[in-house]
Amino acid sequence: MEDEKYSKELDVAVRVVHLACFLCQRVQEGLVSTNSDHVKSKDDDSPVTVADWSVQAMVSWMLSEYFGRQNVSIVAEEDVETLSKADSTDLLDAVVSTVNECLAEAPRFGLKRPDKTIGNSQVLEAISRCNSSGGPTGRHWALDPVDGTLGFVRGDQYAVALALIDNGRVVLGVLGCPNYPMRKEWLNIHHQHYRSMSKSLPSSHSWEEGCVMYASRGSDEAWMQPLIRGDEKFEWPNFAKLIRVSSIDDPALATFCEPVEKTNSNHSFTAGLAHSVGLRKQPLRVHSMVKYAAIARGDAEIYMKFARAGYKEKIWDHAAGVLIVQEAGGVVTDAGGRPLDFSKGVYLEGLDRGIIACSGDALHDKIIGAIFASWDSSNL
Ligand SMILES: *[C@@H]1O[C@H](CO)[C@@H](O)[C@H](O)[C@H]1NC(C)=O
Ligand SMILES: *[C@@H]1O[C@H](CO)[C@@H](O)[C@H](O)[C@H]1NC(C)=O
Ligand SMILES: *[C@@H]1O[C@H](CO)[C@@H](O)[C@H](O)[C@H]1NC(C)=O
Repeated sequence: MEDEKYSKELDVAVRVVHLACFLCQRVQEGLVSTNSDHVKSKDDDSPVTVADWSVQAMVSWMLSEYFGRQNVSIVAEEDVETLSKADSTDLLDAVVSTVNECLAEAPRFGLKRPDKTIGNSQVLEAISRCNSSGGPTGRHWALDPVDGTLGFVRGDQYAVALALIDNGRVVLGVLGCPNYPMRKEWLNIHHQHYRSMSKSLPSSHSWEEGCVMYASRGSDEAWMQPLIRGDEKFEWPNFAKLIRVSSIDDPALATFCEPVEKTNSNHSFTAGLAHSVGLRKQPLRVHSMVKYAAIARGDAEIYMKFARAGYKEKIWDHAAGVLIVQEAGGVVTDAGGRPLDFSKGVYLEGLDRGIIACSGDALHDKIIGAIFASWDSSNL
């Protein structure tokens, strides 16, 4: 069984993603002693937070501890340039203290902690170690420390995504969704609003909000765990529940989700496709890879993303989510119906126009057919 081959990797990855979610929540709640300058602008203008850097440093440190510094290859979103610049010392200080506060809690998650606090140079080194460019051979971890930074900044949906790629194929996917709501209707409501609504509800254990999902290739199973709360300890399998895609195959009853921002996906093109296959519901617009989580959990049936021409999708934005959807029973391809290729390095090279994830073949075939029929008449 392929999933047993990676059992140690899965065990460590799931715990690490739980710890990363804990870190993100601490930063978001302002419990960590960080400076006010949380949001740095990157070349592509997306907001980068202390959480982004801290998660990457922590995950890199952990994977190196468990799998050997020399041997672990990590492909990740953040590069160390911005952080090591002289004018970023406040940011670096905030990251170092966040990483240490987080590592101090690692034993609660069944993970090692360092003997003493780790310093600036170790944090920078951990971040810079994530400079692998992946490729067709060997094992590579793909990490998006905080996917959906805009969602994070707004207190809305965001995700921590970690996947293991072995010889070009995604073999493990772990997706932490700290703000995943208990009720799917609340996915498209601004999270702050959701918070105020949920206050009036009786609290029922940990399932209210937030989860970690994971899957191993070939297992035909995807799992979901609640995040740990307060001073709970992480216990494997920690109330893990099997998740499965929705069985709805009637477009009139199906829900489709897509990126919130028009700059990330062509909303008018997807609206046209939705109309032509007979989708009736309003699109569910959700930040980050939580869209894959929604398909895997059966809270939506279709996810469509058509980036602007020339945009190259990166492996860390998809690897974990794609595997989880597939193992939960779903289908993910490009707009031409071909599987996504994670063997070409940092980017999903050769991707045909867009990404389509569906709960099953019936809906998938309809969407692919509609794309084929409509393409000539659009100038996307
Ligand atoms: C590195 O990882 C490979 C598996 O990817 C393993 O076979 C090898 O023993 C490891 N080497 C070290 C030095 O840990
Ligand atoms: C990645 O960074 C390390 C230093 O942290 C360096 O030794 C290595 O050559 C770099 N690798 C790539 C592919 O740039
Ligand atoms: C979005 O798709 C429509 C076709 O539905 C096309 O006319 C438009 O040019 C596209 N916009 C962009 C920014 O690509």
